[in-house]
Amino acid sequence: MTNVVIFGAPGSGKGTQSEELINRYGFIHISTGDMLRADIMKGTELGKIAKEYIDEGKLVPDETIVGMIEHVIEQHKDTKGIIFDGFPRTVPQAESLCEMLDKHGTEVHLVLDLQVPTETLIERLLNRGKQSGRSDDNLETIQKRLKVYENQTAPLAEYYKKHGKHRAIKGTGTVEEIAQRLFEHIDSLDQ
Ligand code: AP5
Repeated sequence: MTNVVIFGAPGSGKGTQSEELINRYGFIHISTGDMLRADIMKGTELGKIAKEYIDEGKLVPDETIVGMIEHVIEQHKDTKGIIFDGFPRTVPQAESLCEMLDKHGTEVHLVLDLQVPTETLIERLLNRGKQSGRSDDNLETIQKRLKVYENQTAPLAEYYKKHGKHRAIKGTGTVEEIAQRLFEHIDSLDQ
């Protein structure tokens, strides 16, 4: 089982590149953002809590996220690989993920960190907001999300560097060019 974390700021292309990896490797995709939005659409209790945080550009509490993801990993323990998109986002989440995978005799193999200049991130998210109507894709919330990323999530790169898993990837260029950079790292796991 190959476990890959797609890491990066809001708008860095985590969801877009996850699609490329699914197509090439047939891995399962776990996106905590997509899961939370599905709960919001369904109007569940979790969705109601999550909406308040998401609309404020804040992170949903770690316990909520870990509780949500635990059974999903359990369901996919026999799959050939998992792409984690938008999770983990804090060191406690990373530690929980490590424990959850360890129970199944596996681990995070790679953390692919998409690096994109801030002005490009903002431009991409404002464009997406116009088309998708995502409630957190407005300038004020984007700026809050970027701050939260810088303060709470970016430090996680150091954690994975210490564990030898982190790879910095240039996240600009065409979707295909970026995907090729990711493929090289994943393919190198087999060598
Ligand atoms: P989440 O849904 O994870 O959002 P995010 O991290 O802010 O990331 P985005 O989905 O906005 O961007 P992306 O990096 O996936 O980029 P994409 O491929 O879409 O989380 C939303 C919220 O949920 C959080 O703020 C938080 O409140 C909560 N949450 C989620 N997970 C959590 C967790 N673990 N803990 C706590 N809270 C959590 O691309 C963006 C745009 O750019 C698209 O329009 C795309 O078409 C375009 N694009 C992509 N690549 C390129 C390219 N190469 N060239 C040009 N355009 C491109």
